Amino acid sequence: MSAEVKTKKITINTLLKRKKDGQKITMLTAYDFSTAKYFDEAGIDTILVGDSLGMVVLGYDSTHHVTMEEMKIFTSAVCRGAKSSFVVADMPFLSYQVSVEEALKNAGELIKAGASAVKLEGGDDFIVNVVSRMHDTGIPVVAHLGFTPQYLHVLGGYRIQGKSMEAAEFILEQAKKLEKAGACALVLEMVPEEAAKYITENLTIPTIGIGAGRYTDGQVLVCDDILGKYSEMTPKFARKYSDLKTEITNAAKSYISDVTSGAFPAENEIFHLSEEEASKLESCCCK
Ligand code: KIV
Repeated sequence: MSAEVKTKKITINTLLKRKKDGQKITMLTAYDFSTAKYFDEAGIDTILVGDSLGMVVLGYDSTHHVTMEEMKIFTSAVCRGAKSSFVVADMPFLSYQVSVEEALKNAGELIKAGASAVKLEGGDDFIVNVVSRMHDTGIPVVAHLGFTPQYLHVLGGYRIQGKSMEAAEFILEQAKKLEKAGACALVLEMVPEEAAKYITENLTIPTIGIGAGRYTDGQVLVCDDILGKYSEMTPKFARKYSDLKTEITNAAKSYISDVTSGAFPAENEIFHLSEEEASKLESCCCK
């Protein structure tokens, strides 16, 4: 089906069917109304309101600082722009790790903000239990394994995960528990292609890779990376499809030049009084 005629809302069933039929799932992050609208109109399957917004929108040095309040604002903006895409909202750091009750409450708030699913990182027994309770409450959950940015400090930096057979097996073991608990998809970040392929082939839920090679069921990238807007860090796996940094800088330079030279605003960018009102103003005594 072409992007132009795709109007049906994508659901978790669509994603599962894609895996069954061997059709790739497309996912991009977005954080605002317009970007979500354009991605949706372009035919993207799923939009992730990633907590990467902490870095690329808010300028923090990691995702740790993002709050529930911020996630709710960005999620509802994206949901207003995305008509048919499946919107997944990231659960920020410490919004789901403290207690199951708090995790459920916070996930519910992101669903109320318009998201179709939430995403959370990790696969230990506590997280598996959280996923299970969310699933039983009616909240679809996308799991996230491999490199998990909220674990940045315990992982010792931005490091590839699953680099040995044992490590790949460990990720698969956690993924299977998450799948059993009810996760509807799995983001696999920064794992070798061979490990991602092995994990993907041994799960029934779709895998969506970022820096995980060619054999995952779908791909996700951060919008500011594909658009060439974020320049603080450029991951090896992020393909740049545009150069918005240059476009934005050049637009600002042209504007500054037009304002300082008087070329902006031009006649067609100005409001005028009627001739009658203008002449009254001309003869006004308070001159
Ligand atoms: O926050 C985010 O953008 C993510 C992607 C890297 C998958 O979690």
